[in-house]
Amino acid sequence: MQREKFGSKFGALVVIAGAAVGLGNIWRFPYMVGTNGGAAFIIIYLIFVALICIPCMVAEMSIGRRSSRDAVGAFSVLAPQKPLWKGAGFLYVLIPTLILSYYCVIGGLTIDYFLRSLGICLPQSSAMSVFWMVVFLLITAGVVIGGVQKGIERFSKVMMPLLFLIVIFIAVRAMTLPAREGASATALDGVRFLFKPDFSKVTMKTCLDALGQAFFSLSLGSGVLMTYGSYVRKKDSLFNTASSIAISDLVFALIAGCAIIPAVFALNADPMAVLSNNTDSALVFNILPQVFPMMPLGGILEAFFFFALIIAALTSSVSLFEVPVCCAIEQTKLSRKAACAIVAVVIFLLGLLSALRGTTLNFIDALCANWLMPLGGLLALIFVGWTMKKSDFEDELTNGGMHLAHPRFLKVLRFAICYLAPTGVLAVFLFQLLK
Ligand code: TRP
Repeated sequence: MQREKFGSKFGALVVIAGAAVGLGNIWRFPYMVGTNGGAAFIIIYLIFVALICIPCMVAEMSIGRRSSRDAVGAFSVLAPQKPLWKGAGFLYVLIPTLILSYYCVIGGLTIDYFLRSLGICLPQSSAMSVFWMVVFLLITAGVVIGGVQKGIERFSKVMMPLLFLIVIFIAVRAMTLPAREGASATALDGVRFLFKPDFSKVTMKTCLDALGQAFFSLSLGSGVLMTYGSYVRKKDSLFNTASSIAISDLVFALIAGCAIIPAVFALNADPMAVLSNNTDSALVFNILPQVFPMMPLGGILEAFFFFALIIAALTSSVSLFEVPVCCAIEQTKLSRKAACAIVAVVIFLLGLLSALRGTTLNFIDALCANWLMPLGGLLALIFVGWTMKKSDFEDELTNGGMHLAHPRFLKVLRFAICYLAPTGVLAVFLFQLLK
């Protein structure tokens, strides 16, 4: 059976960027930057992305593309004599399944808030969270059923540029807001808060926060890059794809920062209190709906904003859904339709736990983001650095010798994959343990 591939370079880029761009960019990044020394944090973030995250992305994608298989099949193909690695393959199917089970609940919430911004207010209850989760899950499954090119790629090619335009539009509006009466700061103070470098705030914790944020934002260690990597055409460069995605992800995060932080500054009497009291997605769901009505044309902006959140969440959930679906298709020879139906039922059952109890949602979130994803990243690095044939890896990077890579470039990248990146990930682990 001919395996599907992305149709074009641009297609691969928007699909993988779609997986990377999510709530992490829109809320988590601006907050982290603002409280960790502004531009100083961004510089550290950039260094980690270049030295640790891009090598890690390349490693995961090369496992996928070399084997041209789903996450479980990949390890059986590349290391047939090492059954333990096949176990690792199951981990890369388990992680996205777990993430998706609570991601659908949050995704459902974005639909609810979008409708609210249009004036359609349905009551909020546990039963309604389950309802919105099912709606979100069905849309996700509907995109994935269409297949890689006709479903996921076509969807992302429309949605990602649209998302970009909406976020730019909101950022321009936010940065030009006049200060409201009683506000102690202006929108420009918000921009200053984001970008003014303050190296005195940089500590060991800042560095580890930067690395953790970069890891999360680029969706590393979750199996998504492996499966999406297996759809990248043989003639496209993995390194260029990975770096373009890392850059787009950062640009998105910066623009989102310019959309959210200045609005909070211009419209709140005490912006710092608002920011430091809302260290999670509460800002997006609780504070912003109060901020928008204060702006001229706020109602329309609010609708646009929540629509953008739906898109960001959907392109990510599609990527998470595709991993178990691809595995089910290739391991059991099910049709895509049947695989989507089975995965949807499993996610629904798991999702009930998160929809009905907020503490379960937070627990699975912390388990995945703090432990399983770094573990997934670490294993991928160890596999490519120490187990996979060196010639296989070089073949993937140079596309079978088609792109001549400078020998020094290959050496540096290999050093990053074998030593630098694993050390960085281990540091994040240790930091979690000590916390
Ligand atoms: N990168 C996403 C964000 O910035 C979150 C995320 C982490 C994710 N791992 C993922 C999304 C895997 C999709 C697939 O919000």
